Amino acid sequence: WLIGIDVGTSGTKTLLVDDEGRVVARAYREYPLETPRPGWAEQDPAAWYRAAVEGVREVIRQSGLAPADVAGIGLSGQMHGSVFLDRSGDVVRPPLLWCDTRTAEEVRELNRTVGRERMIRLAGSPAMEGFTSPKVLWLRRYEPENFGRVDVLLLPKDYVRYRLTGEKSTEVSDAAGTGLFDVERMDWSTDLVESVGLRHDQLPPVLGSADVAGRLTESAAAETGLPPGVPVVAGGADNACGAVGAGVVRAGRALVSIGTSGVVLCHAPEPRRDEGGRVHTFNHAVPGAWYLMGVMLAAGLSLRWVREELGHLERMAAELTGADAYDLLAREAERSPAGARGLWFLPYLNGERTPHADPHARGVWFGLSSAHRREDLIRAVLEGVAYGLKDSLEILRSLGMEIEALRALGGGARSPLWRQILADVLQVPIARLNVDEGPGYGAALLAGVGSGVWADVAEAADATVRVTDRVEPQEGLRLRYEAGYAMFRSLYQALRPLFR
Ligand code: XUL
Repeated sequence: WLIGIDVGTSGTKTLLVDDEGRVVARAYREYPLETPRPGWAEQDPAAWYRAAVEGVREVIRQSGLAPADVAGIGLSGQMHGSVFLDRSGDVVRPPLLWCDTRTAEEVRELNRTVGRERMIRLAGSPAMEGFTSPKVLWLRRYEPENFGRVDVLLLPKDYVRYRLTGEKSTEVSDAAGTGLFDVERMDWSTDLVESVGLRHDQLPPVLGSADVAGRLTESAAAETGLPPGVPVVAGGADNACGAVGAGVVRAGRALVSIGTSGVVLCHAPEPRRDEGGRVHTFNHAVPGAWYLMGVMLAAGLSLRWVREELGHLERMAAELTGADAYDLLAREAERSPAGARGLWFLPYLNGERTPHADPHARGVWFGLSSAHRREDLIRAVLEGVAYGLKDSLEILRSLGMEIEALRALGGGARSPLWRQILADVLQVPIARLNVDEGPGYGAALLAGVGSGVWADVAEAADATVRVTDRVEPQEGLRLRYEAGYAMFRSLYQALRPLFR
């Protein structure tokens, strides 16, 4: 039996999976996202660890399994977060997360001093606010004392693994998201590391994602209720693990994910870069492979915002009846026709990464008239997120990536309406899988490889993940959505100067 733990932004999800890949128990623990100032996003690493420990206890309790039957643990996590540890292994200051945008100035500096093209060639992407390297520069500039105390830099899931095993390490797929890693040579880049004032010895060793990174310590064993010595594999970045868990482990396979962020990702047997720097080229959790990925910052987050700010009725009804507020919002949106009666939504609530790399962009509803109804507002949000994801798909195709269909992942893609909108807007079939647990599932598969259940990562995915059905694009809507997409793109171009 295998445990997969995904250290997410809203909470940590823990899965217990049997040797045939069946999910037998799941647990979810939320924690807050701290915003001490606008644009800042931080979290307490101790909360990640607590959530993981409680998650493990809970899945064991639910399944009734003997703890000694757990053969391995795998971790997945939100990318890019800067976990600075001091010499005693304590957290120096709360990590800056992937969705933190305080580093605009440091990003400009890195793209100027190291050079944007060089960053793309070495790190697979130019410097961007979300990545780790500008966060290091920020610490050096604004909190020099804290910077002086940094002994080692870890990524979020690496911190949880450190608490479980006592070992400090990372692995290729999360190293790739730091902006300090040479994605082609698969090693820390001395140039990039020195550009932010770090020394090599402040970076952890880089393992393969399915390598055993350590074993459960006595104290972690006591906390989780598992026996000491259980192997813990290195694991992977959430997007890499999501890809493994969706079977995106060979050329020609791709996925679309709507979590807090939105992602279009395809497997890449070689590290092809986007010279425009709009999509990222990162190392996959599949050894010797890469993936190309476009990232929207507010995909599921846009609908969550609608639920919080406009969804009072749905939230109340959900509380009274036990229904899901998102389902009720989707039902409302279904009343609005394709194109939302001439209403557009730009989903740039927190700026945007792909394709604009613009931390100043903001959300917009465009075209509002007194004839519009609440249902149109909601539908426009679902369509706006789909248009934003189409931007990523178009860029991946322009780079020569062949994408025939997209496998759907993430909470948003569980909505049949949103899947149909994705198929219609992206004009590509959207496939559903027998398991859509996402990154935690990929992490469990990596644990299975590390503990010898499967020979390698591709075999693990092939043995467990299947497409069960596909939503096809409706030909009758193609022209309407093509025109809608053209308008979506023009709106950003027209508004860009006003976002500053
Ligand atoms: C990827 C990214 C997000 C986080 C979300 O570059 O920033 O998808 O990994 O957890």
